[in-house]
Amino acid sequence: MRVLGIETSCDETGISLAEADQNGIRVLSNVISSQVKIHARWGGIVPNLAAREHVKNIIPVLEKVFAESQASVEEIDLIAVTNGPGLIPALLIGTSAAKTLSYVWKKPLLGIHHIEGHIYANFIGANFKSTKSGFNFPVLCLVVSGGHTQLVLMKNHLQYKIVGQTLDDAAGEAFDKVARILGLGYPGGPAVSRLAAERKSEIANAKNQKELKSSIYLPRPMLNKNNFNFSFSGLKTAVLYKFKELEKNKKTKDSDSRLPIAEMAHEFQQAVIDVLVAKTIRAARQYGAKTVMLAGGVSANQELRGQLKEEVEKNLPDVEYSLPVFDYCVDNAAMIAAAACFRWSKMNAREKKKARENWKRLKTDAGLKLQSLKNNSR
Ligand code: KG4
Ligand code: ZN
Repeated sequence: MRVLGIETSCDETGISLAEADQNGIRVLSNVISSQVKIHARWGGIVPNLAAREHVKNIIPVLEKVFAESQASVEEIDLIAVTNGPGLIPALLIGTSAAKTLSYVWKKPLLGIHHIEGHIYANFIGANFKSTKSGFNFPVLCLVVSGGHTQLVLMKNHLQYKIVGQTLDDAAGEAFDKVARILGLGYPGGPAVSRLAAERKSEIANAKNQKELKSSIYLPRPMLNKNNFNFSFSGLKTAVLYKFKELEKNKKTKDSDSRLPIAEMAHEFQQAVIDVLVAKTIRAARQYGAKTVMLAGGVSANQELRGQLKEEVEKNLPDVEYSLPVFDYCVDNAAMIAAAACFRWSKMNAREKKKARENWKRLKTDAGLKLQSLKNNSR
C-alpha cells in the first residue's frame, strides 16, 4: 500500500510518499521545506509566521513529491496527517490540506500523533525487519525533541506507557535556550553540538592535557533520583549563571581573553547525555526491554547516538539498539506515513471504511496525548 504523509506541526512543511509491503516500509519521496532561516531572525518559532509559510509551501511540496515519486493520485491508498501535539496555527494547515485531499480524492484519512511518528521513524527502511513484528518487544524508546522528553515503554506495536518524562523543559528546548545564552542563535541543537565537537577534538588532539583541564562543571539533574523523570530547566539556569560569571571576570580581569563557549557547550551537552543515557539504561533493565530505541529531533545528535549505543552494548549485551536514519530524526512526513502503515494494518474492515469519512471529523489538538491502539489483538 502507498501512504501519503503530511506533517506541519512546527516549522517544517513535510510531505512524503511511503510504500509498505511484506519487505517493510520504503520511502518513495520525502520532501521537507524548512523555515529555519525565517524564524532564526526572531530567535525562535513564531506560530502565525509558521502557518503563513506552510500555506505558501504545502502545494509546491506536494507537487515535488509527485514529481520525485512518479506516482499518480490513483496509486495512493491512504492519507495520514499529524493532528497534534504542536502549534495550532501550523497544525491546521496540514490537517486542512489532508482533509481536502481526502474528500476530493476519496481516500481514507488517519490523524497521527507527532511522537508516534518519531517513534515509527525507527521502522523505516534499513531498520525495519518484518511488517509483523520488526523489533523485539518490549521496546523502550527515549523520545527527545523540542517539545518532549519521555521514556516510552512499548509492550507491542502502538501500545505506549510513559515511564518517565521531563518535569519542565524538554531536552531540545534546553539545547535551544542554552544556544541563545551562548549567543549561538536558532536552532540551538545543531549549533551547540557543533561547538561541543570542536572542543572534543581539541581535547583529543591536545599535547598537554593539564592545560586543557576545564573549570566548568555543570550539574547532572535528577541523575540519582530513584525514578525515570528528567529536569533540564535548572541546568539551563546553571549555564546562564556560569556564563554571566565568566563575562564579569572577563570585564574585570582580562578583556582580551575569549569566553570558553565551546567548553560550556561541551559540558552542557555531556550533562544532558549523562542523564538521558543513565536513565534509559536503568529503565531498560527494570522493564526488561529487548530493544532500546532513540527518537525525536535530538536523536540527530551524534554524541547521544554514539554514547547510548556504547552504554547499551556495555550494560545490556542482549538488548538490540535502534535509532532512526539521520534524515528521519528531525520533523519529517515519512515518519507520519510509517506510523500510519502500522495503524492501518491493525484496523478491521469497518474501521477502514469509517476512515473514509474522517475528513468530516478529524480534529487538531495542541496537547494531544499519545494513545495506545485499543484492540491490538489483531
Ligand atoms: O523533533 P524535532 O525536529 O521537533 C519537535 O518535535 O520539537 O526536534 C527539534 C529539536 C530542537 O530543539 C533542536 O534544537 C533539536 O531538536 N536538535 C538537536 C540536534 N538537531 C536538532 N539537539 C541536539 N543536537 C542536535 N544535533
Ligand atoms: Zn518533532
